[in-house]
Amino acid sequence: MSALLIKEVKKTFIEKFKSQPILIFSPGRINIIGEHTDYNDGFVFPAAIDKGITAAIQKSSSGKSTAIALDLDSTIEFELDTLKPSKRGSWENYVFGVVAEIQNRNKVVGDFNIVFKGNIPEGAGMSSSAALENSVVFGLNELFELELTKEEMISISQKAEHNYVGVNCGIMDQYASMFGKKNHALHLDCRTIEAKPYKIDFKGYQLMLINTNVKHSLSDSAYNDRRSACEGVSKLLGIKALRDASESDLEKVIDKVTPANYQKALFVIQENLRTLKAAKAIENNDLERLGSLIYESHQGLSNQYKVSCDELDFLVNQAKKNKHVLGARMMGGGFGGCTINLIAKSEAKVFTKKVSKAYKDKFNKSCSTYFIKLEEGTHIVR
Ligand code: GLA
Repeated sequence: MSALLIKEVKKTFIEKFKSQPILIFSPGRINIIGEHTDYNDGFVFPAAIDKGITAAIQKSSSGKSTAIALDLDSTIEFELDTLKPSKRGSWENYVFGVVAEIQNRNKVVGDFNIVFKGNIPEGAGMSSSAALENSVVFGLNELFELELTKEEMISISQKAEHNYVGVNCGIMDQYASMFGKKNHALHLDCRTIEAKPYKIDFKGYQLMLINTNVKHSLSDSAYNDRRSACEGVSKLLGIKALRDASESDLEKVIDKVTPANYQKALFVIQENLRTLKAAKAIENNDLERLGSLIYESHQGLSNQYKVSCDELDFLVNQAKKNKHVLGARMMGGGFGGCTINLIAKSEAKVFTKKVSKAYKDKFNKSCSTYFIKLEEGTHIVR
């Protein structure tokens, strides 16, 4: 959370709307392992981070609502009773979607003004979208005393993403952003929506993100396609979700699915198991084991699930050449964004320098590195 951002957002709000706002910080997330398992009712291992969205929100008495995205220098005015999705890719869909989903639950929201700004790099795969949705629902819940539980709030955020943004996401991002715990990662069962917190203290090692600074287009449709493929295989197997399948179950329908979808389902089954193994490895302080599971996860995401890209694969291969990096993989939905690396603290600077140069030489553009802190979930800033 950045004090400067809070100041800026608050100041803009007061200048614009002449009233004192409620301030909210809603974090982005990382994910140690368990990718594309959430919408298969499986396990994930995310954590909320110190980067996210800062929002200032208050009731409006002007007969309309206004949202200001400071990063984009963009303002939108709207009326609550005529909400519909804007053009695909518009930032206001995150705000409209949340309001509409609250209304769908027969809760009454009045006019409001909101100003927000983030410090998560766009397209980095750290889930600025969930952070924004959560900040809006959390703020409206406070302002209009909606008495929503946090569980209800994340479900509203997720539905907003499905119905207004057009991405049929799972629950990992919204959960991690809302329920994050300082210095902990959350081993979340996406079926029961219950998580076990794990203290993350890797002694001589740390988690480091490297951003490819690319976001390839079509990632949203590719995401939805993969989700449908998984659901198709589940249906064939007569189960609720791939979480309920084993490799030998899948074997039985091998003739009924395309080889590509077979590999995708296999990946999900294996990734889900890896996530359980990773939790064990952390319990046993076995970082070598954790690292190799992380590398395996990337192999699967790249070769079986096909959601990686040249830039991500390149960064992971650079990591593999360095014995001080125990594990590295692409993080989040894929097709760009960051890799997450488990690296010796003493080596982080040297590796960053080396990998930055190699990346520049290869792609003629820069990558960025971030050291993150694990923080509390969405909350009011006093
Ligand atoms: C995106 C989605 C999540 C999850 C990840 C992949 O971040 O929003 O629900 O599916 O991709 O693990």
